[in-house]
Amino acid sequence: MIDNLWTHGSHAVEAWESAPLPELIIHVVEHYHMQARVLMARLENLAAEAVLLVGEEQPGLLAIRDQIERFSKDFRAHMTMEERSLFPHLLVPGSGGPLELMPPLVKLLEDEHRAETGLFLRLRTMSEAHLPMDGARNLRARLGHAFRAMEKSLQGHLYLETQVLFRRVF
Ligand SMILES: [Fe+2]
Ligand SMILES: [Fe+2]
Repeated sequence: MIDNLWTHGSHAVEAWESAPLPELIIHVVEHYHMQARVLMARLENLAAEAVLLVGEEQPGLLAIRDQIERFSKDFRAHMTMEERSLFPHLLVPGSGGPLELMPPLVKLLEDEHRAETGLFLRLRTMSEAHLPMDGARNLRARLGHAFRAMEKSLQGHLYLETQVLFRRVF
């Protein structure tokens, strides 16, 4: 479970429990989905820079760069599916696709939350093991900062969806 991997502890979550559904969905899309897209682009750029700068000495960085790209591609597809199917359905039932597909879609999205969380945490650990301690344009610190920002964003994002948004509807 996501709340076993990360402690949430945000009082803001409680406020969203009773917020109107359209406001909650707009918040998820305009805050968390936007933030995830920006932070994933930053992680992909930093991983590509790390490969260019120190990839020859640290060949493990190639796999990390590829896995960051995979994580980002999968998570973009996940958010697009929410924006095109589930969220429209939550606002106007039937507008996101056949009604009978919505419960299995929620199950799929929750499974993806767990899978993406696991992959992200493995990636962060792998990158710490392969980056040089200093030099190389301060890559270790910059990548570490980007991972922490992404973790914080994912923590709020996935908790809000799994524990508040999805629970309010099904
Ligand atoms: Fe989302
Ligand atoms: Fe999601």
